[in-house]
Amino acid sequence: MDFRCSTSPFAELSCDALGIGLFSGHWQDQLKAVAPEIAINALALLQQREFKAKSGDLICLTLPGQKPSFLIVAGLGEPENFDGRALRSTAAKLAKACVGSGVEALGLSLPLEGFAPGEATAALVQGARLALFKDDRFRSEPEPRNKPNSCWLLGLNELQEAELENQLAICAGVELARELVGGPPNLVNALSLEATARSLANEFDLELTVLDEEGCRQKGMGAFLAVAQGACIPPRFIHLVIKPVGAVQHRLVLIGKGLSFDSGGYNLKTGGSQIELMKFDMGGCGAVLGAARSLAELRLEGIEIHIISATTENMVSAEAIHPGAIITASNGKTIEINNTDAEGRLTLADALVYASALKPDAIVDLATLTGACVVALGDEIAGLWSPHDELAQQLLEAGRAAGEPLWRMPLQKSYKDGLKSSLADLKNTGPRPGGAITAALFLQEFVDADIPWAHLDIAGPVWNEKGKGPDPAGATGFGVRLLVNWCQAFSATLGK
Ligand code: BES
Ligand code: MN
Ligand code: ZN
Repeated sequence: MDFRCSTSPFAELSCDALGIGLFSGHWQDQLKAVAPEIAINALALLQQREFKAKSGDLICLTLPGQKPSFLIVAGLGEPENFDGRALRSTAAKLAKACVGSGVEALGLSLPLEGFAPGEATAALVQGARLALFKDDRFRSEPEPRNKPNSCWLLGLNELQEAELENQLAICAGVELARELVGGPPNLVNALSLEATARSLANEFDLELTVLDEEGCRQKGMGAFLAVAQGACIPPRFIHLVIKPVGAVQHRLVLIGKGLSFDSGGYNLKTGGSQIELMKFDMGGCGAVLGAARSLAELRLEGIEIHIISATTENMVSAEAIHPGAIITASNGKTIEINNTDAEGRLTLADALVYASALKPDAIVDLATLTGACVVALGDEIAGLWSPHDELAQQLLEAGRAAGEPLWRMPLQKSYKDGLKSSLADLKNTGPRPGGAITAALFLQEFVDADIPWAHLDIAGPVWNEKGKGPDPAGATGFGVRLLVNWCQAFSATLGK
């Protein structure tokens, strides 16, 4: 879908549909202001259907022979509740209403007062394009589906056209993440993820290093390899580098948990544990590769971005690790694996040690790490753990602006006791209560204490059962938008 910005009146554009949003109270006057040509007609029809402009109301009107011939009206409720998230999901709703209606060019006219132009452009483009994403790769005959091929953003001047390019790059990253995370575990695995990284490297001229099993062994990655040893598909440790425009002033590392399937291992997942969904356990890897796709195209100034994922699958076999095994991570710490289903933190441990050796200015890891985080925060909000207040604030803000909310959680030191082992330096699983916190505390053991680090547990928002706002049902691509925002904000502050 093509996007254009315009401050011209709707009548001057070649659009066959108009999508508008109206606040409750005086919605009739707002209708007259945005669509004067059809206001009288539309007003009568809307009144007939008892439209009140309550938030959530949506009415489609066909107006034969008029311009537009198709009007979609969304109720926005009270203006004080209309934030970036609402703007994004209204754009999504209006775009979705056009599917199957034969609309070719859609004009979107939403109230943008109070939004920075860049933020408004982002919300409209992401809302409309990402809501229309549909994964048809695995159907023998994809259902025919007509959707608009162009979209005019009304009320945004031509200056925003440059921002459109940015937004399209971000959307492409989110779509890549959705395809990776939604892809089935018999097709998406360590080798295919390596191939994806390689094609990004080739297309965008990035540096790629891939460690195979032997390479990981040489680096002493006993924690990652303990998880990988039960899999038939060989593990891959992926490291991509996106060089900046101009000199490197800062270095950022983005790490994604890359379990292409998590059976639990010998602590096999049982009924109710959603084993059939555990293909999404590479959601962190999907997010960082998606972000790489976007950031490689955007080429930010001054910051070198490292993308890392230790990819494998957690399987059961005669070669799989025993519950109770003691292994050694690449920083020399010994770990008693008291639960093979707490595998993500083992793969991340070696990834964090590797990342720390790059001496970056910050490390952010994203992982579908714990069911406990889903219990705590549900499927819209990711947990954020960081000992570093400034980094935490930056990420909270990036998530807010992206419509990908985070909530800061505590790194309660005393809970480390739960990870004490009678034999090894630590065990990989603490008690059930506070399970998402002990997971974060475990990761912290593998990060150089001088390096600002944050951990995002995305186990909830990585997947969406029903579809919500701009996210269709299934893989959401959560994390890409906030990571790109964060890197962009980081780049923008350089030299200031
Ligand atoms: N990948 C899972 C976490 C998960 C569970 C994500 C449910 C999304 C939905 C992770 O590897 C895991 O199995 N965690 C265990 C940890 C426990 C054994 C300490 C969990 O959360 O049950
Ligand atoms: Mn697990
Ligand atoms: Zn897992």
